[in-house]
Amino acid sequence: MKKKVLAILFAGIMMFSMTACASSTEENSTGSLQAEISESETQEQEGNSNILVAYFTYAENAELPEGIDASASASIQVWNGELTGNTGAVARMISEATGGDLFSIQTVEKYPDNYNDTIDQGQSERNEGARPELTTQIENLDNYDTIFLGYPNWWGDMPMAVYSFLDEYDLSGKTVVPFVTSGGSGFSQTISEIENAEPNATVEEGISLRDSDAVSAQEEIQTWLRELGYIQ
Ligand SMILES: Cc1cc2nc3c(=O)[nH]c(=O)nc-3n(C[C@H](O)[C@H](O)[C@H](O)COP(=O)(O)O)c2cc1C
Repeated sequence: MKKKVLAILFAGIMMFSMTACASSTEENSTGSLQAEISESETQEQEGNSNILVAYFTYAENAELPEGIDASASASIQVWNGELTGNTGAVARMISEATGGDLFSIQTVEKYPDNYNDTIDQGQSERNEGARPELTTQIENLDNYDTIFLGYPNWWGDMPMAVYSFLDEYDLSGKTVVPFVTSGGSGFSQTISEIENAEPNATVEEGISLRDSDAVSAQEEIQTWLRELGYIQ
């Protein structure tokens, strides 16, 4: 019974966020929204910063049809001409503000291009405690002192691929700064999950953004980064 109520609540959140997000996308987009995911840019690790901005976002983990644009789904955004998702857009804002290198967490198996199927798959993976295999690798983890770690809230948790990421890398001695986008659930229990997975890392105060606000959150991001001392 409790599960059913939660499912209905979540369906409501999703419907609300999809409507809200579609309109914010239109407001924030100029000219043609069509863009290609650029492998070289999304996985850029130039090695001259001690900050890494690692993130998982649906749009960079799905087999999306050619020419898809930001009006297609609540989770597809275009930021500076690049096709990404809500979390990917926020990651780029953090990278632009701090000079941090971007790292897109990507899975070997792509998620369905149909968002509703992805919602179901995310639930099954969570129930199974899946650890999807990752295709992208951090080249020089030693170079980084601070890892911004971004993800969407999936079923009150992180996508299981983020657990794969935390299993793969030992972040001992590093500072982890989490950020989340969601339809309203925020971080849920994910901060404790990160602390459990990386007991020797320092986890700083993160930021939680509504999916419908993500692409227009630049000022909020900058204020937060200033408060944490990452920018002046
Ligand atoms: C599998 C799945 C599960 C989700 N579960 C939740 C949830 O439990 N609570 C919530 O507020 N939003 C949930 N959402 C909505 C996403 O967190 C939200 O739209 C997010 O901004 C998507 O980020 P992305 O575009 O970077 O992938 C879910 C989305 C998906 C695909």
